[in-house]
Parts: sequence; C-alpha cells; structure tokens
Amino acid sequence: MKTSARIAAIALSGLALSLGAHAEEVYRDMTPYIDYGSKPRASDDARHTNTYQYWKDNARIDPQRASSATQFWTVNWKYKDPPFNDTLHGGHDAQDRGAELYRQLNADGRFAACLGAKKGELKGLRLQYPQYRKDMQRVVGLEAMIEHCADKQGMKLVNGSYDNSAVSVYITAFSNGMPIRIDVSKGPLKESFENGKKLFHTKAGWTNFSCATCHVSVVGKNLRGQTPTTHYGDVAHWPTWRSKDELQSLHVRFTECNRNSGVQPLQIGSKEYTDIEVFMTALSNGYPVVNPSQRD
Ligand code: HEC
Repeated sequence: MKTSARIAAIALSGLALSLGAHAEEVYRDMTPYIDYGSKPRASDDARHTNTYQYWKDNARIDPQRASSATQFWTVNWKYKDPPFNDTLHGGHDAQDRGAELYRQLNADGRFAACLGAKKGELKGLRLQYPQYRKDMQRVVGLEAMIEHCADKQGMKLVNGSYDNSAVSVYITAFSNGMPIRIDVSKGPLKESFENGKKLFHTKAGWTNFSCATCHVSVVGKNLRGQTPTTHYGDVAHWPTWRSKDELQSLHVRFTECNRNSGVQPLQIGSKEYTDIEVFMTALSNGYPVVNPSQRD
C-alpha cells in the first residue's frame, strides 16, 4: 500500500472508531422504568394500571364495562377476543389461507420440522417463540422463522406480509388457551428482553415519545380519539385482524405506533423489533393464547 493510501486508511479507521464511540454516547431521554421484576408476567399489571382486575379472567369480563364508552378500554380490548367476539371476521379467512399455505409448505414434513414442531405437532409451537436459534445466531419471532423456513421450501413469505401472518395465525390457533411462558431470566432471551425494555422506554421522533409514554404514562387518556392501554397481556392475540381490513403481525403494529408518534419505523423482523417483541411477550406470560382475534 502506498504511504498516502495507508495514511488515508488509518485516518478512516480512526474516524470510524470515533464515530462508533460517539454513537455509544448519544444522549437519549428515557421514560423511567416501572418495576418489571425479574420474572415478568401479565398479572404484574395489578401493580401498575391495575386494569388487570378487569381482564385477568376471560370468563369474568364484565360486558357492562365493555359496552361503556368511557370504560371499555379498561378491559384491554379483550372483549374483542373469542369467546366474547364470535363474529366471523378477516382473521378467520386468514386462518383458512394459512392452512392452505401450510399444506403446500409442509407436504414432506420439513417445514414443520424447520419451525421446531416435534413430530409435526403444532399444538404449543407458538409458545416456543420468540426463541434463540444457535444456527442463526439470533433471537427470532415465529413470523421471522416462517419466512426462513418457507424460503427453504422455495416459497417467498416475507415477514409482515398477509400470507406470512396468515400462516402465523394458523399455527398460533393450535395453542389456543395455553398460557404464554417465555423465560427471560437467562441467556440470549434475557439480553433481548433487557434491550427491548430499554427501547420501549427510549424517547424518539419529533413528539419525543417513547412507547412507554403512551402505554405506561398516559394509559387511559384520550389521544386523538384513541386510548392507549397497558402493555401487559397484549401479545397473546397476535397476529390480529384490524377493523381497517388489514391482517397485522405484532411488528407491523409496532411500525404503526412508530408512525403515529412521529418516529421512523424500523424494519419488520429487525433485532430491535424482535427485542421489543421479547419484552412484550414476557409481559404476557401467564395469559392464554387466543386467535383468530380482532382489534379496531
Ligand atoms: C402516541 C401514543 C403511542 C405510542 C408512542 C405508542 N403506542 Fe402503541 N398504541 C397506541 C394506541 C392508542 C393503541 C391502540 C389502543 C391499545 O391497544 O392500547 C396502541 C396499540 C399498540 C399495540 C396493540 C395492542 C393490542 O393488543 O391490540 C401494541 C402491541 C403497541 N401499541 C406497541 C407499541 C410499541 C412497541 C410502541 C413503541 C415502538 C408503541 N406502541 C408506541 C398508542 C401509542
């Protein structure tokens, strides 16, 4: 290498180093953490918004509460889940579409095996996600894994697309009634949980809101006609059918919340969104899976 080129290379690496160091030091406003404890679960919401008392027990959701305009948010929209909501909606079409795609993908059983279904058993598979994959060296959500495994079968099922979420709905429904139970007390999932927690509380965008600004600090307040609810117990009904006629995965929901608060959305399936997913999944521990579901 010529001397001048070498000097340029050294200067560049120095610049990269100083930029790297600088990136670590960027100042960010944070919404203070509430007490998440070491083994978070949905029932911890009793210590926070305590709307948990209204939605903890599916059998006891008070229909009066759910039909009162000023109180219905307090049941965390759970009255839109079966068994309360027995209307036929787009989530059911998605489940059928998911079944059809699954049959094609799993013709030789390799798709199910790739997803981690023992002997092709789909019951309980949803509860294994998000999980750390040694072979992929990262934590993945079910939808990311559907994309990965479909790819191996020669089918493109982009994470966040209708078809990808449809397969996820189909698989998720096999775990109906089974409580979410991810362990974030150690290893890569703990790391992911901690980073997700941090991201959830980091303020960003022109509103300088964090996820927690809405889902912790202003829960129950009217925000342009919408009322944010607790972030506890949310994950069990995703992917969900939105009343604007859109099937959404959890990550797609994150992009919507980001846009609504003036923040550039991140990539679906990105490490950051996956970490937030891990954080929110832990906050749903103990809450039973319910799908197909519907939300406004
Ligand atoms: C400007 C306020 C605001 C911000 C900031 C915000 N959200 Fe939301 N979010 C809402 C509202 C309002 C809803 C709809 C009511 C509800 O379900 O809480 C919602 C819904 C959701 C839902 C769906 C809940 C369900 O079960 O249907 C999830 C998940 C969610 N937000 C996650 C996030 C995440 C993650 C962030 C940060 C990246 C975030 N939100 C930032 C206001 C906000």
